[in-house]
Amino acid sequence: DLEALEQAFQQRIDGGEKIEPQDWMPEAYRRTLQRQMAQHAHSEYVGMLPEGAWITRAPSLSRKCILLAKVQDEAGHAQYLYSALESLGLSREQAYGQLLAGEAKYLNIFNYPALSWADVGMIGWLTDGAAIVNQVPLSRCSYGPYARAMVRICQEESFHHRQGFDLVRRLAEGTPAQRRMAQDALNRWWWPTVMVFGPPDEDSVHSQRSMRWGVKLYSNDTLRQKFVDQTVPQVLHLGLTVPDPDLRFNPDTGHYEIGRIDWDEFNRVIRGQGLCNRERIASRRRSWDEGAWVREAAACHAVKLAAGPQG
Ligand code: 3HC
Repeated sequence: DLEALEQAFQQRIDGGEKIEPQDWMPEAYRRTLQRQMAQHAHSEYVGMLPEGAWITRAPSLSRKCILLAKVQDEAGHAQYLYSALESLGLSREQAYGQLLAGEAKYLNIFNYPALSWADVGMIGWLTDGAAIVNQVPLSRCSYGPYARAMVRICQEESFHHRQGFDLVRRLAEGTPAQRRMAQDALNRWWWPTVMVFGPPDEDSVHSQRSMRWGVKLYSNDTLRQKFVDQTVPQVLHLGLTVPDPDLRFNPDTGHYEIGRIDWDEFNRVIRGQGLCNRERIASRRRSWDEGAWVREAAACHAVKLAAGPQG
């Protein structure tokens, strides 16, 4: 019966086994993964936009090549995740359709504009740094296809993170105007990145169950703290200032303590009222419409290939 199935399922998870697409799983487990993985895939896809806007304006050929490769990687991450989602019975068209209809969530951070070249560095260093902290544990999550997709994604994110740090370091070691540009970008990206880990544990509706199922291995606040502890020393190393007057190191706990997070801003942004929400969705819709001929051509080509040389 259902209870026995659920118990056996939980035992497999507790024993560290991976759940694979053909395995029995509770409907709520499937829905939880569909929700989180779809939001994750959309984040990668929308995440291409703020940086993509700088490809034509990169200050050197080498920076342009790096940025092109990075933005292309993000598209690849979205593709792996949409594929992994298909194994849960949610087609690409359904998942992507939810994004285009404006019904799906994606990370808050991608609703902020990239105003200067330094912002490109902040996205790599801070946002991808946060993504790594969040995603390395996900590569050990209970659902096999999601965990495996994370392995390669994390390797690529680690390159993104380093290029972001390198970009910001060059600015921080540059002219006073370049240092000001870096500090201004840090001031704008710090708090939205700290929010990326999601609401505080007491307000995180899904955490408890997701942790029991091994979909999440750590709570939102635990990962946020890890990010802060690892990033503040990097900010100090660069001679920049964390835009948080209440930030302090607690020698008793060995952790940095941060000031109050503006959760009203977070809630506004994830409800669709951030600076760029409309623009982001409009841009994805435009790409979908303008790409119709590519999809048609690819489908025609596939039919021809399948028919063989005589077809
Ligand atoms: N942005 C937008 N919405 C968020 C959010 C955020 N940062 N954090 C939480 N939320 C939403 C949740 O989706 C949930 O909404 P829902 O009930 O409508 O689905 C609600 O707030 C409550 O939050 P919970 O903590 O209960 O939600 P979760 O248990 O799902 O935890 C999470 C949130 C930690 C973000 C988790 O979903 C997760 O780990 N997701 C995968 C990580 C991810 O999406 N990474 C994307 C990286 S993108 C990237 O790297 C591209 C870049 O490199 C360019």
